[in-house]
Amino acid sequence: MAKPSKPSTKIFRIEPHHRKLISKTTLLKFLTAIDKPKLQTPALLLDKEHIEKKMEVIGSNIANSRVFYAVKANPSPLVIKLLAKLGAGFEIASDGELALCAKAGVKPDRIITSNPIKTFKFLKAAAKYGVQYYAFDSMEEVDKIAHFVPGASVYVRLSVPNEGSEWPLSKKFGVEVEEAVDLVTYARQKGLDPCGITFHVGSQCTNVYNWDNAIYKARILWDICARKGLKFRMIDIGGGYPVSYTKSVVGIEEIEKNIDKLIKENFPPGQDGPEIFIEPGRAVVGDAGMYVTSVIGKSKRADEDWLHIDVGVFNGLMESIGGIKYSYIVEDNRKAGVPRKHWTIAGPSCDSMDVIDQNVELPEPSVGDIILLLSCGAYTLSYASEFNGFSMPDTLLV
Ligand SMILES: Cc1ncc(COP(=O)(O)O)c(C=O)c1O
Repeated sequence: MAKPSKPSTKIFRIEPHHRKLISKTTLLKFLTAIDKPKLQTPALLLDKEHIEKKMEVIGSNIANSRVFYAVKANPSPLVIKLLAKLGAGFEIASDGELALCAKAGVKPDRIITSNPIKTFKFLKAAAKYGVQYYAFDSMEEVDKIAHFVPGASVYVRLSVPNEGSEWPLSKKFGVEVEEAVDLVTYARQKGLDPCGITFHVGSQCTNVYNWDNAIYKARILWDICARKGLKFRMIDIGGGYPVSYTKSVVGIEEIEKNIDKLIKENFPPGQDGPEIFIEPGRAVVGDAGMYVTSVIGKSKRADEDWLHIDVGVFNGLMESIGGIKYSYIVEDNRKAGVPRKHWTIAGPSCDSMDVIDQNVELPEPSVGDIILLLSCGAYTLSYASEFNGFSMPDTLLV
């Protein structure tokens, strides 16, 4: 029998707003793991059971749906192995992500690729592995897919509004309905199997109406194509489900119930109705992860108080420069209350872009103290480099 684990001997200042962002069970698990003598900062702790629970919730309120985890959110082999064991599908974008899935024993019928512009190398590898589903949004991509994966099932990426999404994706990918019709027709002429439509409402989407607009637009395309004899069978709603960073966000259940209603209202039910593919990334791992970092310095620049920690923009917090804000829990071993200050929080590198946040009100820590950053499981390590020689955080599944 496993020994019950002892809670942390370190004292952390848990504030009321933290309790809304992380469950007591997950926090306790993390605090216990921090006390392990071998734990070095920076480290990313991921709660295995939290990921399992998220996978149970996602898709459970959308009829006829399949979930494909977007590997880009966190490609740690520990995560891929866990999700593979749970029977998840995977959405991949590159030969590197394909290799990770293959290593975890994921069969090709559980893999799709929704990257609309793929490399030759990836297409060759995916064809060889037996991947059948490919997104596209240009004639050139149709030509590439027809060449490397003749007869592949392809789905067209529609451009949809990304308003209210903290990480918009609409500019780079997707076409309007008219162009989509031409592309689908062209794909059919090239011997491919145009099977459906995809879109992405933008990552960290807290605006439920983005899905309304996207689904209405998909319906228009579906109907036009049907009139031309091009019958689709699936809609891939991409990712976008949000997690709580600094405040609570709309729940997955509410988002999915709305999507399910819209699908039922807009598409034929039963045998001719669409199968729904969901590609969550952030929502699977984002709030299952916490960074454990150390304060490596404090400084005063003009009238600003700066806190320097050992993880920053380059080695694990890239999204901070796109506006994602994190919540911090500060180690506080002193009995008397310590003063609160407004901090500029910076990473360890010599680059002046390495600033994670400004004006963050926190109790003053000492150099060497631990700072915990909540909701760091997604788009953190997957973006990280060892710029300036600073190591990337180790990942631990607890
Ligand atoms: C094609 C595609 N699918 C799924 C995702 C995952 O999105 P999210 O992490 O917002 O769920 C992304 C993210 O960039 C994406 O580009």
